Amino acid sequence: MITHDDLPRMKYTAKVVEETIRMANVAPMVHRVANRDVEYGGYTIPTGWPVLVWVRSLHTDPVYYQDPLTFNPERWDKQVKPGTYQAFGGGYRICAGNMLAKLQITIMLHHLSIGYEWELLNPDAKINYLPHPRPLDGAAMTFRKLRA
Ligand code: HEM
Repeated sequence: MITHDDLPRMKYTAKVVEETIRMANVAPMVHRVANRDVEYGGYTIPTGWPVLVWVRSLHTDPVYYQDPLTFNPERWDKQVKPGTYQAFGGGYRICAGNMLAKLQITIMLHHLSIGYEWELLNPDAKINYLPHPRPLDGAAMTFRKLRA
């Protein structure tokens, strides 16, 4: 079992969780509507236009994430540039469940890695990218419990 007190000490797990969420891009996009004309990057976004942040492009942009398709928890040793990690959106409408989501993944990863040996049945399974990246076989695995 892990307790609330353990969580701040699980620094490596926290990085694995962050990297998992970056690469999984569970929410494909974040929606906004321009409530006034906005000048951005030499363009005008007129009032009323919808704006979509395509999160996968942001999270796999080599300008912000070196070797972006490599799963590398250590990249979270450094803070990312503000605005370049939008897995949970941002500002007033940031995901209300972001801490809960991270906590759930932390608990699941903890039990999975401490208590089980597990192996992907099809490590080279094709990936479906819409709405978000996931293996076509649903990440089929075998599990073996390591201890009672
Ligand atoms: C990895 C898991 C999750 C991801 C990637 C995710 C992502 C997002 C994103 C991108 C938004 C839109 C934010 C914005 O527009 O700026 C959002 C909104 C929201 N999420 Fe999540 N979410 C996750 C899990 C959860 C969980 C577990 C809950 C609650 C139990 C939750 C509750 C909400 C709510 C209530 C909103 C609407 C917030 C608002 O509009 O004020 N989410 N989420």
